[in-house]
Amino acid sequence: MRALESSSAVVVDPALCTGCGACVAVCPASTLAIVEGKACVAKPRSLLCGHCMAVCPADAIRVTCIDPQTYRFSAPSGTNSQQWTFTIVPTRRDVVALAEKVGGFYRRLNELARKRWLRALLGWVGRPQLERYYRDHHTSVQEAVHAWENDGRDMLFWGAPSVILIGSLPGASCGVEDANLAAQNVLLGAHAMGYGTCLIGFTVEAMRRDDSIGAFLGLASGERIHSVIAIGRPAVTFRRVVGRRSLDPRVFRAP
Ligand SMILES: Cc1cc2nc3c(=O)[nH]c(=O)nc-3n(C[C@H](O)[C@H](O)[C@H](O)COP(=O)(O)O)c2cc1C
Repeated sequence: MRALESSSAVVVDPALCTGCGACVAVCPASTLAIVEGKACVAKPRSLLCGHCMAVCPADAIRVTCIDPQTYRFSAPSGTNSQQWTFTIVPTRRDVVALAEKVGGFYRRLNELARKRWLRALLGWVGRPQLERYYRDHHTSVQEAVHAWENDGRDMLFWGAPSVILIGSLPGASCGVEDANLAAQNVLLGAHAMGYGTCLIGFTVEAMRRDDSIGAFLGLASGERIHSVIAIGRPAVTFRRVVGRRSLDPRVFRAP
């Protein structure tokens, strides 16, 4: 929980407050209380989550660090802390530059994975990941590298004209969850606007293992990327959504 200071305050306008108590009921930190029929800040600390401001029927509360204009962009985050980052790669030229960096990582990884003695040695010291990578991905990555180098066919970003990367700042309490929930909303929003998207886990993985890619994009030190979204006008019109296996949810009933 953060201390209230002038830069991040919860402010109640007593002239507007009707004393209904809706803000007190939703405050997860008991920061607010009703005193003499009006809401007031009763504690010096707040999550600054903005729920009081959103629930107030009289518009009597302001959380000063929240911009009311941002109500259009809505994704939840742990305590509404919004410790997320958005990086836009706006043109095909920029996307190709990023693809070259990511491609370089996979070229080097494939070179390492081809060394049978190295896979065996790592496996022997309890690190079977390179053997697993060799088994599951080496061939398809090699094909993708070959397609890029020889035919200019982009099997990483699929020819997308832009990419959005969503990440979290160092110290974010729920950074992965926050970023991925925002990413899902970006996917839905893009679809509603007639764009096609594809999540590119191969780039997330490369950035997790090679900090130079983040530095190339201007990421802050300690910033982590959790979703990479290729976005553009879809080349293909699907007749229906891609199918899924039927769900079989577990139902728990108290004994
Ligand atoms: C975490 C995650 C990582 C993904 N990584 C890639 C990727 O690197 N390259 C790719 O072409 N598709 C990637 N996808 C897309 C999936 O293959 C795709 O979502 C899945 O086949 C279902 O198809 P749909 O999204 O069209 O319904 C990824 C999807 C998810 C959820």
